[in-house]
Amino acid sequence: MLSQEDNELITRVGPGTPLGNLFRRYWIPACLSEELKPGGAPLPVKLLGERLVAYRNKEGKIGLLGEFCPHRGTSLTLARNDDCGLACIYHGWAFDTDGSCTNMPSEPDFSRFKEKIKALSYPVCETGGIAWTYMGEPERMPAPPKFIWTSLPESHRMVAKVYQECNYLQIWENEIDYMHAAFAHLALKEQDMKEGALSTELGINPSHPLVTSRNPLLSVQPTTYGFRNMFVGQADTSENADQFILDAPILMPSFAFTPRVKEEDHLFHAYVPIDDTTTWSYDVHFTLDRPLNHDTQMERRGLWVDENYKKIYNRDNNYKQDRSLMESGNFSGILGISNQDHAVTESMGPIVDRSKEHLGTSDVGVIALRRMVLKSIKLLQKGEIPPGLDPGIPTERIYSEGVIAPPGVPWKEACPLDPVFEPSKADNPVNN
Ligand code: FES
Ligand SMILES: [Fe+2]
Repeated sequence: MLSQEDNELITRVGPGTPLGNLFRRYWIPACLSEELKPGGAPLPVKLLGERLVAYRNKEGKIGLLGEFCPHRGTSLTLARNDDCGLACIYHGWAFDTDGSCTNMPSEPDFSRFKEKIKALSYPVCETGGIAWTYMGEPERMPAPPKFIWTSLPESHRMVAKVYQECNYLQIWENEIDYMHAAFAHLALKEQDMKEGALSTELGINPSHPLVTSRNPLLSVQPTTYGFRNMFVGQADTSENADQFILDAPILMPSFAFTPRVKEEDHLFHAYVPIDDTTTWSYDVHFTLDRPLNHDTQMERRGLWVDENYKKIYNRDNNYKQDRSLMESGNFSGILGISNQDHAVTESMGPIVDRSKEHLGTSDVGVIALRRMVLKSIKLLQKGEIPPGLDPGIPTERIYSEGVIAPPGVPWKEACPLDPVFEPSKADNPVNN
């Protein structure tokens, strides 16, 4: 349970809000690379409550500008993508990718007015199939994003995004919540899994350790980038079964690697607030040692979207929940792991009222997550550096790889944290 005041603090992302200021210290995804064609149509982009427009000029460079023309406010989503930049259709003022005004044909030839005009613009860095932006003070801009998957060939990576109709935090909390896998993602019968997959579109097998483990140990381990979310259960139901240990790195400001064991494909998530009540959820599936089977992952996740990245299974059609499927198919009656996640988080409402909830012992990760966000806001307000921004953190070395270990071995020994991510006591992002 959280006070209404704290709930407001950790969910509101607009300009000038404490959380909005925190998000504006990190690089965040603005859109997919595939959404912007050289010389193509500009793309409306709303991020952290700000209305922006992205475009790719004919040379391939991306600009991210304020949506409204600095002249008299016409939307630049209607603009021409011309040689001189993004040209407003009202009076032809044009803007380069950095916001400089390159043409002002409505003013007399002798006018130097255009030298004084600059459109709002944010820096863009394109890597890993995503155009990232940094919306904070220029002098505090961190190093560009670098993850284990950003440098992989396309054959080993699949990047997708889906529109979600709720605040980013309840989506991120769902990522931390190990226990929901045994219910929201439960398939009622055993199924054959495809190579690299944890589930089918129905869900995970009833024999999976996430389902069968009794009284698993749930814990978090602070790191320099956030924390590791740990699950320690039993690999099977036999007496003296091996331990089944999962680790999921949770990264500021709203990213996560999902838990997995050795043979499974990797998955990275970024939950990017469009505004207070809607979110872009990015899925980055990847493999390190073999080409990724895109179809397997698309199907099991149920990433069926329209041309605007809005899902076909959504709130308006009750996620196509099928009561007969609930009898023999899966626990939720909904197809697609991702749709199951969206149903449980979106149905809470746009911003869940955390003052009305009843947290149990299985919510240890959720509590740690909120504590980290609150602590990060306070650090920033005191002029200190929130987690994940130290330039010495080798973010490209972060990934999840759970293990099966003999009984009795402490999980910190069986699945140790890479010492480069060990925080000093003062930097512990989870505890005060
Ligand atoms: S409003 Fe855009 S050029 Fe006049
Ligand atoms: Fe889930």
